[in-house]
Amino acid sequence: MCDCCVVEKDIYLPEMATVNKAELMNETEVYLHLSMDGEALQYKPGQFVEVSVAGIGEAPISISSSPTQEGFELVVRKIGNVTNKVYQLQPGDKLGIRGAYGEGCYPTEEMKGKDLVFICGGIGLVPQRSFINYVLDNRSDYGSVTVLSGTKSHTLRLFIDELELLDQRDDINLFETVDEAHEDWNGNVGVVTKLIPKIESDFSSTKFFICGPPIMYKFVLMGLEEKNVPHDNIYVNLERKMKCGVGKCGHCQMNDKYVCVDGPVFRYSDLGSVPEAI
Ligand SMILES: Cc1cc2nc3c(=O)[nH]c(=O)nc-3n(C[C@H](O)[C@H](O)[C@H](O)COP(=O)(O)OP(=O)(O)OC[C@H]3O[C@@H](n4cnc5c(N)ncnc54)[C@H](O)[C@@H]3O)c2cc1C
Ligand code: FES
Repeated sequence: MCDCCVVEKDIYLPEMATVNKAELMNETEVYLHLSMDGEALQYKPGQFVEVSVAGIGEAPISISSSPTQEGFELVVRKIGNVTNKVYQLQPGDKLGIRGAYGEGCYPTEEMKGKDLVFICGGIGLVPQRSFINYVLDNRSDYGSVTVLSGTKSHTLRLFIDELELLDQRDDINLFETVDEAHEDWNGNVGVVTKLIPKIESDFSSTKFFICGPPIMYKFVLMGLEEKNVPHDNIYVNLERKMKCGVGKCGHCQMNDKYVCVDGPVFRYSDLGSVPEAI
């Protein structure tokens, strides 16, 4: 075939995926396990996909699974047009997928041999889980692993069974907290920054990964500043409103960076600051 006969793939055209599993996690979030109908999705921890519902639109959603696992997993919070439809999906239903996108993903190779701390707020656990599970599937490649997870209330905790399994492992330190005290919750109460003193690894060399609601970054970064953590050792996962997902429309621009291409995971020292609102 000559060059002029080669039809370029339309980057805006989704491929179809089938929902294998759909489980409501609470009143607002659904967990989905999917497989592409054609070629398997190639992705790295920290990347996202553009999810589309015919006749409604698209939404960027982080991949929550590790590429070491079969198929891929998403957790979607219903907030508007697309996500409300996704929340209602059942096994066997189809979903449009573009991606995976985001060249700025978790530096899985560079982190080998390092002590890692993941600080997650609410649904921020979802993208972090992709790297956490990757590390667990390659456990001997990494140093100590600590996960701090904060949720508004105990009823909104995500992946409860998995967190309980993590808690039982002796090669991972898990600390959880909830903002609101409740008689059914015996654990820590307070915001996620309260857990920072529980970190046992060396603050000067440990690598920190932060993902949560915009307001959380300010306080977590202040907490790490107090411990003199070098900015080079901090990674933040940012969300901006997106349209194309591939660096063409400029919707996600933040200073000189496009979050969809250069992120969504950034080294803190490469950013001037972290925005408090999207
Ligand atoms: C890189 C990236 C990864 C993401 N990962 C996930 C994920 O794993 N799971 C998940 O549930 N969501 C995730 N989001 C957020 C998700 O993309 C939005 O919630 C979604 O686009 C809303 O689409 P909608 O059509 O349902 O809502 P719309 O009908 O477009 O909007 C409904 C309302 O929500 C507001 N809104 C739109 N986008 C956002 C947003 N990003 N954050 C807060 N409010 C918003 C709108 O201003 C409007 O008020 C991610 C966003 C980005 C950029
Ligand atoms: S979403 Fe279009 S440039 Fe990033």
